[in-house]
Amino acid sequence: MLASRVLFRVRTTSSRQLSTRAATILNALDLPTNTEIPGVYDGAWRGSGDLLESKCPTTGEVLGRVKMASPKELHEVLDKTREAYRYIRSVPAPKRGEILRQVREALAAKRDELGALVSLEMGKIKTEGQGEVQEFVDICDYAVGLSRMMNGRVVASERPGHSILEVANPLGVVSVLTAFNFPVAVYGWNFALSFAAGNATIWKPSETTPLCAVAVTKIIAQMLEKNGIPGAVSALVTGDKCTGEAITESRDVDLVSFTGSEHVGRIVGKTVQSRFGKVLLELGGNNASIIMPDADMNLALPAVFFGAIGTAGQRCTSTRRLYLHRSIADEFLTKLRRLYSTVRVGDPLADSTLLGPLHTTKAVETYAAAIGHLRSIGAEIITGGERYLDSPLDQGNFVQPTISIPKSANPADKIWRTETFAPVLNVGIFDELEQAIEWNNNVPQGLSSSLWTRDIRNVGKWIGPAGSDAGIVNVNVGTSGAEIGAAFGGNKSTGWGRESGGDAWKQYVRWSACTINFSDAAPLAQGVDFSIDT
Ligand code: UN1
Repeated sequence: MLASRVLFRVRTTSSRQLSTRAATILNALDLPTNTEIPGVYDGAWRGSGDLLESKCPTTGEVLGRVKMASPKELHEVLDKTREAYRYIRSVPAPKRGEILRQVREALAAKRDELGALVSLEMGKIKTEGQGEVQEFVDICDYAVGLSRMMNGRVVASERPGHSILEVANPLGVVSVLTAFNFPVAVYGWNFALSFAAGNATIWKPSETTPLCAVAVTKIIAQMLEKNGIPGAVSALVTGDKCTGEAITESRDVDLVSFTGSEHVGRIVGKTVQSRFGKVLLELGGNNASIIMPDADMNLALPAVFFGAIGTAGQRCTSTRRLYLHRSIADEFLTKLRRLYSTVRVGDPLADSTLLGPLHTTKAVETYAAAIGHLRSIGAEIITGGERYLDSPLDQGNFVQPTISIPKSANPADKIWRTETFAPVLNVGIFDELEQAIEWNNNVPQGLSSSLWTRDIRNVGKWIGPAGSDAGIVNVNVGTSGAEIGAAFGGNKSTGWGRESGGDAWKQYVRWSACTINFSDAAPLAQGVDFSIDT
């Protein structure tokens, strides 16, 4: 996932004139345009920590200054979330579902405005910004249904007159640490399930997308307040690395759901495990598409194009490796290059744009370093490889989408094993499917993978025991853009976490096996005789 985080902090304030482009979007979401913005919510808004600057990746404009949580405030919010949990756990789950339905309606009513804020602050294009809000709306629908279906089981007991129930109860306080690249949806996946399950959630967003977090929290808070539910059920703490560390270390947090880099994820995982907390990790992806000779190229080409260039290569699920069968490699690459040459670069808020900027200047450096490394190992860069330096793109973090053919497709080479959070696609040529599957699997990460074929025998291999070892294994569907219905997440160094659909909700509850004796005797299991003379 994201390679690094960049913190823009300032201590002074100054009155300023926001561009109309930005002011229109902030106004539509009730975000102040000329004062500091409180970044802490637990039923009341405040923030007395340092200031965080949100910068537009397209223009470099400062969009807002957000007041982070001080260490004292973080502890107050943790106390408030614990209190809020005690309240919400006793509200019947279907009633929680009804409140979630109202949250869903409120978010849907602001879909375009929130989507525009995502484009403004994060930099993804308009349709993807709106799509991200749609993901939140969809998971709310899912969780509303789930609020009547978070069922346990009744297990047959070996003892007469006994029943065993598997009971799901609320877990406690869930903290969600999110990344810049999905500044709305990832909180949505977690909050919707956590709330339906009867928990209080505390959100610590990325330092570089605080405005999205404040806007979403305002919308949720209104619905909670309307229903007389404590606001700390969906608390917010904007903060920095120290805030994240304090949350991770706190015994007041029962589950930490973290999306971010493998490096930070390893630290989060160890810290939470060492205090026997629960942890859910969604870390790096390094996703491959494999194109067989019988693939429908008209479908595969746009899917690879979207997978590699969509969100400027900043999805966990972005296509980073492309394995082409030798017999179609030349034709595929010629056509793909042609598609790349048509990409419309520019302001992500403009309807026609397909490629927006990278999120930060640091990300541009990471891109440049990756290109430099590719050149140093003699990779052939068949398109891209530079920044866009003409006005007005020079004001933002715009980089050319790049296709490279490294000399070797051996996954042991660093270039194949590292996730570069930028639109860089590396190509390898294979002769047999088995070889491509081995390359697909022989990397540390295991998030998403995609095979293009019409041959059912290939499909069987791909989804079977000797097939892809990723958490997402697609056929004739690209690596990115998963729906919310299935569990989302990856294996190996991606962290094994699952969010969103499927059985992911089961992580947000505490399970108990309850054996109940309805009989007049109290026999031991396994026929153990421990009789006492009376
Ligand atoms: C991420 O990149 O962190 O499957 C999440 C997708 C999106 C979610 C990506 N639905 O690409």
